[in-house]
Amino acid sequence: MNTEEIKQTVKGRYGQCVDAGGVKESCCCPSEAPKNLSFAAEHVLYSKEELSLVPEASLSLSKGCGNPTGFANLKSGEIVVDFGCGAGIDVILAAHKVGENGRVIGIDFTDQMIEKAKQAIADSGLSNSIELIVCDMEELNLKDGFADVVISNCVINLCADKDAVYSEAFRILKPGGRLAISDIIYTESIDSQVKERFQSTWAGCVGGTIEKEKYFEIIRKVGFSEIEIVAIHPLPSTELETMVCCPGPEFTPTPAKEDVDSVQDKVASIKFVALKPACN
Ligand SMILES: C[S@@+](CC[C@H](N)C(=O)[O-])C[C@H]1O[C@@H](n2cnc3c(N)ncnc32)[C@H](O)[C@@H]1O
Repeated sequence: MNTEEIKQTVKGRYGQCVDAGGVKESCCCPSEAPKNLSFAAEHVLYSKEELSLVPEASLSLSKGCGNPTGFANLKSGEIVVDFGCGAGIDVILAAHKVGENGRVIGIDFTDQMIEKAKQAIADSGLSNSIELIVCDMEELNLKDGFADVVISNCVINLCADKDAVYSEAFRILKPGGRLAISDIIYTESIDSQVKERFQSTWAGCVGGTIEKEKYFEIIRKVGFSEIEIVAIHPLPSTELETMVCCPGPEFTPTPAKEDVDSVQDKVASIKFVALKPACN
């Protein structure tokens, strides 16, 4: 698939998932909450208190693999941009942390996700502090150097051009601004033919995943420094099997079992922070 086909596929699969009201089977994402928690909620990456701040519409479509506002060290008054905000779980949590003097901007290219996020934000009474934009993170229509923090939760693995995403993050951050990212990486090198076969499952967690060294090389190359890994969670087989066809097997084809077996113990959810240096 070329880059444009990948984007249309990802948008289509996440959009269909929202239209269908979630997933039938539990995936990285729940069909209902709290009975059927998301991966992130299930792994206590969100506290009970945090989950109680998020309306069910948003929680039930949560498809993250971490809790970026849990380690972004957000402060009152800060400006936060969420890359791939989905149905809004992390923009809502960020808005609570930055308070009424802060601002949160959620970016997502799937219209249906943004519509769900809008409803959830209105239900939370946070419409004044959160702005949502339907936009591609690889080409943001946002000005230079205005944000304090860029967060993202299980999204950048889905982007074909990760250099473009991190260049955009670098561009919109103030000098001294920071990244707090949860994403999926390979911890070891993967056979190129297996990777090529995974491409048809793009939207699932291995469609666009790359190796950790290559991932951090991109981040360093665009100018970020002081990269600090907060946690790495290797996906056990039960999690991997469900996450490879995220947002659900009814939307994304399940890869061949032998291909999934071949990457077992080599796929991890990673959480890290990094800095845009204060002076270039
Ligand atoms: C796995 S979901 C995660 C959603 C959200 N971060 C969460 O934790 O629930 C991935 C989201 O990224 C969005 N996305 C993927 N590629 C994107 C891109 N290039 N630009 C904007 N949004 C993108 C999808 O539409 C989808 O809502």
